[in-house]
Amino acid sequence: MKAVVMPNSELIRSGRNLRGLLNDLKRDVPTAAKELGISEQELNSYIAGEMIIPLLLINKAVEIWPLNIRDFFILEDDTSNGMLFFSKEKSESSSRILKRGGQDYYEYRDTAMSKGSTFRPEWIKELVIVENNDPFSKKIFWNKGHFLHQFTYFVGPVNFYYEVNGKKYCVPMNTGDSMYITPYVPHTFTTRKNEKGEFGFILAVTFGGKIFGDAQQELSLLGHDLSKDFLIDYSKNPTGNIIKKFREQMNISQEYLVENSLVSLKRLIDIESGKVVASKEEMDKIALTLKIPSRELIPLQLEDPVIIVLYNNARKWQNNSYTFVELSSPIKLPYLKAFEVNINTNQKSYFIKVISHQYLYNVSAENILLYFIDTSNTFKEVLLRPNDSVYLKPNIQHGFISEGGKLLVVRIGGRLTGDTMHELSLLDQRGFERLCGELTMWYDPSGAT
Ligand SMILES: [Fe+2]
Repeated sequence: MKAVVMPNSELIRSGRNLRGLLNDLKRDVPTAAKELGISEQELNSYIAGEMIIPLLLINKAVEIWPLNIRDFFILEDDTSNGMLFFSKEKSESSSRILKRGGQDYYEYRDTAMSKGSTFRPEWIKELVIVENNDPFSKKIFWNKGHFLHQFTYFVGPVNFYYEVNGKKYCVPMNTGDSMYITPYVPHTFTTRKNEKGEFGFILAVTFGGKIFGDAQQELSLLGHDLSKDFLIDYSKNPTGNIIKKFREQMNISQEYLVENSLVSLKRLIDIESGKVVASKEEMDKIALTLKIPSRELIPLQLEDPVIIVLYNNARKWQNNSYTFVELSSPIKLPYLKAFEVNINTNQKSYFIKVISHQYLYNVSAENILLYFIDTSNTFKEVLLRPNDSVYLKPNIQHGFISEGGKLLVVRIGGRLTGDTMHELSLLDQRGFERLCGELTMWYDPSGAT
């Protein structure tokens, strides 16, 4: 085993993380050092990012404080100042063939993925060839569905099979078609031979939504029995079920709630049981009594668990010499946006900057020049040849130059979206830099302010 070597910037982030943990526990350095049984000087060197925190010390810390071992480990940055390039050669060298039913089923290849993002995009070639679109074909081997959401872009003639509500479907897909599939929906793919005798492949971008990471850890900690009450009953008007959950949070009776919300008791009972839909006005009044934002009471709209967009039906728009073709994305994941971007320009303009993590894959036969301002404020260029791919951090200004190049662009929200983005925005902004890595104690022991 090689010794663990941490780059300086990661040591510094790790030290700031430790400072943050001690602040949250209300421990100053003398107190924490004493409790850990080390010198103040040693603890200070960890906080300053001068030394790696030894595992033995972390074990001691989790023994005496309500912390988890994972709290001490930071996300590693594997990008080169915000961008990670993945060549087609590297992709080809990751090739592995997985069998189903004793036969070769898929060839998988990795493409650009970063430790900082939640997506795992794969190039997958279907190795089973079918002559028809029968979802009951003996040649097909289904999966059980999986935890990650999946966006898929199709290249060539590929059959997509899925099972919803006990019914099996087969949809013949072609280049540029796309689909989104909800976690745990069983599915599989095969290839057809088209008129030119070509077989197909897919770019399957699987990714974790909000449940990925800490939320999943909490589910695992609570277990099935304690976790099932988190489920909102979407089988009937869900607003009533949400109101009930908030009412129970405050131990408020239905009578008390109606007294203060100017809604009749009968009406509240019907709303909570899902018999009737609450009006916007009723939701506002109830939310006011519960002291919650009205938006908490608005459920997501129901949609199909599988969303298929055929290329010819896709919305298209033009912006700055790029043509955007909108690919599949569900409404329930507002930060997931996928496009095929057609580029026909030799002009530079840094107009693209998005709050999502991005995955880019050159799906065309033309070269594409990606240019961007990296996180050290330096101008960079990288040539994306056919089948090269890239991961880009959020909020990096960038653009493309190509004569007829075509990029698959998948934008996936990270951990800082939705409610988290609102919470972040409403903090006292004097602390923003400390939030990105704690720099200081939460007070000055000298008494200065
Ligand atoms: Fe899948």
